[in-house]
Amino acid sequence: MSIFTEQTSFEKAVSVSSSSRHTGKTVLVTGGASGIGRHVAMRYVQSGARVVVGDLNVLGCRQTVRSCAELNATGACFTPDESCNVTSKSSTLNLFNFAKSVFEGNPPDIVVANAGVSEVGHLDDDIVLENDIGHYPKEPRKTTLEVNLAGAILTAGIAQEMWAKAPLDGLHSQASRQRKLILISSMGGWEGIPMAALYSMAKHGLMGYWVALSAQLTKMPTKPFSCHAICPFFAATSILDTAILLALAGIPKTTPDDIAAAIEAVGMDSPSATQSDDTAVLLPDDRVPLVIRAQDFDPVSGDIYSNLAIMLNQRQPRPDQAEYRSTTVEDIRKALSHNKQFHPLQLVICAGGVLHVLNLLRIAHRSSMLQNLVFGFLQAALVSLVLAVVPKAKAAR
Ligand SMILES: NC(=O)c1ccc[n+]([C@@H]2O[C@H](COP(=O)([O-])OP(=O)(O)OC[C@H]3O[C@@H](n4cnc5c(N)ncnc54)[C@H](O)[C@@H]3O)[C@@H](O)[C@H]2O)c1
Repeated sequence: MSIFTEQTSFEKAVSVSSSSRHTGKTVLVTGGASGIGRHVAMRYVQSGARVVVGDLNVLGCRQTVRSCAELNATGACFTPDESCNVTSKSSTLNLFNFAKSVFEGNPPDIVVANAGVSEVGHLDDDIVLENDIGHYPKEPRKTTLEVNLAGAILTAGIAQEMWAKAPLDGLHSQASRQRKLILISSMGGWEGIPMAALYSMAKHGLMGYWVALSAQLTKMPTKPFSCHAICPFFAATSILDTAILLALAGIPKTTPDDIAAAIEAVGMDSPSATQSDDTAVLLPDDRVPLVIRAQDFDPVSGDIYSNLAIMLNQRQPRPDQAEYRSTTVEDIRKALSHNKQFHPLQLVICAGGVLHVLNLLRIAHRSSMLQNLVFGFLQAALVSLVLAVVPKAKAAR
């Protein structure tokens, strides 16, 4: 039996009317100025919670507050005037203290450690390439580790200290105020992403933190909070640049809102706070999330990675050609409109690179499916070029 389960209840949880299921709850989200963080804030506000967002980007946070207000929901979103940098203890503490001031002196019930970077363009600094020989050893870049790993753990640590200082029993008698620590990891926390060694390392580190913390929590007489790790595959947000989005065209991806739905679903109270509450939620594609409990996270006896490989293999997309092509075209169109600073040269380089790889594959494997893929891609590239160029040409006239 697989230790991963397909969590259809998340789908149900998001499809049923949810306007009140987090009423009375309070939530803090780091990295709430855009992408997944903004969707998380909106999801919780829509379900009745009060949310505080913090980010380096103050204007983005204000936009999140406005987007939440436009929902006309029972919940509300707030942000401090100053920015929050999760790599700084005082700055992150300020965000928590602001949240306490909004939440009548109480710490937030749910903390989402979401802020992250991908250092696009520098992902290969940690890999020794042939023409780099002689330049090593050199100091590894630290930003990804500082933000995605140390920053998340700092956020988690401040939450735990605040919770320890305000024990739940004394503060809230209702059982409906379970505390949750939600770490935003990635599928890169399960497998290495080529050209993203530091990113994969930071996200693997978060998985280690999650499983160790969960083991520690079970030893406590009363579990003070539960912890979750959310592991999405690529989703189109500003963390990905146009080149990556183009390279991923046609591959089934999750969306920021689906990720936010999973984050909101794990924030719901469970009947009893036990270790089986501590889960990792994997969103490897556009289908229902996979869930594993922390207690089953045993790489040796649980054979966890082969279990995951089997599950992922069963979900391999087998779309018919027409669907594949139309998804590819749509993804390319979205990638081009995603980045307003997009330079046409990027498309030419990316398309050339992808065509080159596909051509090599076609020569190596001469299978009709690959040939179809090549032609599908060519068709998609041509259509998207037309889509991209025609409006610009019209505008120029
Ligand atoms: N989009 C994806 O494909 C994807 C996949 C897996 C995991 N994730 C993770 O999801 C999280 C959110 O990313 P996103 O996709 O929404 O990207 P995003 O760029 O839209 O959001 C990340 C936010 O974090 C903020 N941030 C960066 N450094 C910060 C710092 N030092 N202090 C405070 N805020 C900071 C940014 O300003 C930004 O608003 C990240 O942890 C990311 O690693 C994203």
